[in-house]
Amino acid sequence: MKLSNRIALVTGGTSGIGLEVAKLFRDQGARVIVTGVDQTRLDAASRELGGGVLVLRADLRLAGELDKVFDQIRQKFARLDVLFANAGVGLAATLDAVTEKQIDEQFAVNFKGIFFTVQKAAPLMAKGGSIVLTTSFLNAVGSPGLSILSATKAAVRSLARSLGAELAPRGIRVNAVSPGPISTPFHSKLGLSEKELREAAGAIQARVPLHRFGEADEVAKAVLFLASEDASFITGSEIVVDGGLTQF
Ligand SMILES: NC(=O)c1ccc[n+]([C@@H]2O[C@H](COP(=O)([O-])OP(=O)(O)OC[C@H]3O[C@@H](n4cnc5c(N)ncnc54)[C@H](OP(=O)(O)O)[C@@H]3O)[C@@H](O)[C@H]2O)c1
Repeated sequence: MKLSNRIALVTGGTSGIGLEVAKLFRDQGARVIVTGVDQTRLDAASRELGGGVLVLRADLRLAGELDKVFDQIRQKFARLDVLFANAGVGLAATLDAVTEKQIDEQFAVNFKGIFFTVQKAAPLMAKGGSIVLTTSFLNAVGSPGLSILSATKAAVRSLARSLGAELAPRGIRVNAVSPGPISTPFHSKLGLSEKELREAAGAIQARVPLHRFGEADEVAKAVLFLASEDASFITGSEIVVDGGLTQF
């Protein structure tokens, strides 16, 4: 048990990578809280995770909703040991087609949402606390049509370093996990047609040295490592889980 009696919050824990992390944290002894927005996915996650996991609806774009999550954690547990700030969205658009609304939407969730989640979590955390942020392989390589999503993830990579430096004096570690292409519902939300999606998936898979998409549980194992005491001397770092995509 790597997280015995630890209190762990997983944002975007109702789907994909976050859901696998929530299951692994639960199985490793943590008291887990997950957040999401879509009610159908919240209900399904609640059934899948079981009664021991607290499932909360919170749109991370809204500071007031985040406050409610942390009020509940404060009341129920009085502290937080692990934060996996993972919720994210992506919208595909080429340079000529990007709109201001798309930029605002992606930065609101992927950057501002993560920043304020960490800001509000930090006062509940003590020495030994661990924060893991989700970045992406897109912060290291250029991909046509994904300029804004990639920029949000580069910003989050930067946050792991600067907030890691700010929280290090308190003994709280901040790291990032950088997934490559992972089989989750994320891709179906990019706004691409079925055909575009198939072509993009084929092209990206061909670029991955291990020649496949990764699975959410393969990312979850890296997150567990960073969240646990196994990574006690690691902060400001990023673990890349991308089948070699950004390395060769
Ligand atoms: N899958 C990949 O290939 C890949 C690659 C690199 C990085 N990533 C990153 O990995 C993270 C998890 O993505 P995933 O692949 O697991 O995708 P996913 O299955 O679509 O999960 C995304 C999660 O974020 C939540 N979310 C979205 N907007 C939100 C908002 N405004 N407020 C609160 N929660 C919100 C979703 O909740 P609802 O379902 O309720 O909307 C969902 O739980 C993201 O940050 C993504 O950028 C994914």
